[in-house]
Amino acid sequence: MLKAQGYEVVETHILPDQSQILKRHLVRLADQRQVNVIFTTGGTGFSERDITPEATMEVCDRMANGIAEAIRYHSLAITGRAMLSRAVSGIRKKTLIVNLPGSPKAVEESLGYLLAHLGHGLGILRGTDGECGGNQ
Ligand code: MTE
Repeated sequence: MLKAQGYEVVETHILPDQSQILKRHLVRLADQRQVNVIFTTGGTGFSERDITPEATMEVCDRMANGIAEAIRYHSLAITGRAMLSRAVSGIRKKTLIVNLPGSPKAVEESLGYLLAHLGHGLGILRGTDGECGGNQ
């Protein structure tokens, strides 16, 4: 889905549900590789090993709550179980980090909606797009 929208996928990883390992990757991708956006999948539910939102919040400078809210809002029209995702979104330096739920179905539903609007936000973060003036 990302490649079809013109994104270059520079790294993919399958990680254990361990906060330190996840945080180390998020920090490295944001600070050293300086990628535009990181998508995590899974680990957002209610089980004890679901640590993705907490790890994400710990490494973010600023939260981008609107993205997580929009994903849940859109997803709730598909399944009430969307309320069971604790996913968050935030910004570390110039990198946006977006948590997505884990099932391929949920990823497809969330990403499909998000990608239509994300480019402008990433442009503002990188300084290549101007701020919104009126209604866009
Ligand atoms: N969001 C969408 N769009 N579609 C889904 O099928 N599944 C939900 C929710 N969000 C779902 C969804 C379910 S069943 C759970 S338990 C939570 O995401 C958390 O998933 P995770 O633990 O894999 O992150």
